[in-house]
Amino acid sequence: GAPWYLDCDTGIDDALTLGLLVAQGADLKGIGSVSGNLSAAGGARNTLDLLALMGRPDVPVAVGAHDPIDGLFAGGADFVHGANGIGGVELPHVGEPVAESAAEMLVRLAHAHPGALRVLAVGPLTNLALALRLEPALPSLVADVVVMGGAARVPGNVTAVAEANIINDPVAAQAVFDAAWPVTMVGLDVTMEARFEDNHRSDLASGGASARALAAMLGVYFDYYAPIFGRPSCALHDPLAAAIALGLVTPTLAPVVPIEVDATDGPGRGQTLVDLRSRFIGYPPQPGTRHRVVLDLPEGFGDVLAEELLR
Ligand code: BDR
Ligand code: CA
Repeated sequence: GAPWYLDCDTGIDDALTLGLLVAQGADLKGIGSVSGNLSAAGGARNTLDLLALMGRPDVPVAVGAHDPIDGLFAGGADFVHGANGIGGVELPHVGEPVAESAAEMLVRLAHAHPGALRVLAVGPLTNLALALRLEPALPSLVADVVVMGGAARVPGNVTAVAEANIINDPVAAQAVFDAAWPVTMVGLDVTMEARFEDNHRSDLASGGASARALAAMLGVYFDYYAPIFGRPSCALHDPLAAAIALGLVTPTLAPVVPIEVDATDGPGRGQTLVDLRSRFIGYPPQPGTRHRVVLDLPEGFGDVLAEELLR
């Protein structure tokens, strides 16, 4: 299989993503953390502890950027993911992060696997932007980048137009979408429709040790989403991006279109500007465009994910 680099802010749906990648036997060469749901240091801690629980203590974890490129870390999302990022579930602390930064790790892995490295980014994009600065040739060394972030045709979840991973570092997101590598954007259009329901949570609760830990974390996450969805349920943002990257889920509507990021300080800050004119109103395709935006997903992703996490 392909070599993978995962960049995450481990968080509850990031934890589900780790479970999916491990269940799929993804060849994880390294994982970098970034501040988002919680601090980069806290995210690395959660990642190490989860990897040990999931039987993959061999995967190196690097602490990534604490602050966004042009400011200071805004302070996390404990109202969504709990104070420790994983719904208050206490895991034994296992292992230590490696000495290199996440950006250094990404650059090193890209050189070690030229043209082959798959990059999956499910947190703010700071580490990817820093890696682009360290190694301007990075886009030609990486196979592709799959991003959970943004919103093409729907509201944001932090402001009217901005999704969390993008607004936590719009300057970095702009650099990532401007770089000459193919990016697949998996945004709120589809991730808000990808759900776990109560039956999925209770199935996980009767599974093995890591499935049970994930079920316990889902308590806090369901509490956040219940009033939004009107029933016990949650959105599966990051796991859907992983499943699309892995080819486990195949969208039928995923046009290649220009994508820009608003990194200004106005009310549009953090918006992904996805140019769908060629898709919906017959304009000719833009030349030189390389990014793909996922706009639909098949039914039943929750079933697929639960089955994987119960393997
Ligand atoms: C994204 O923000 C984080 O809270 C989640 O882990 C996901 O990556 C959803 O907007
Ligand atoms: Ca995340």
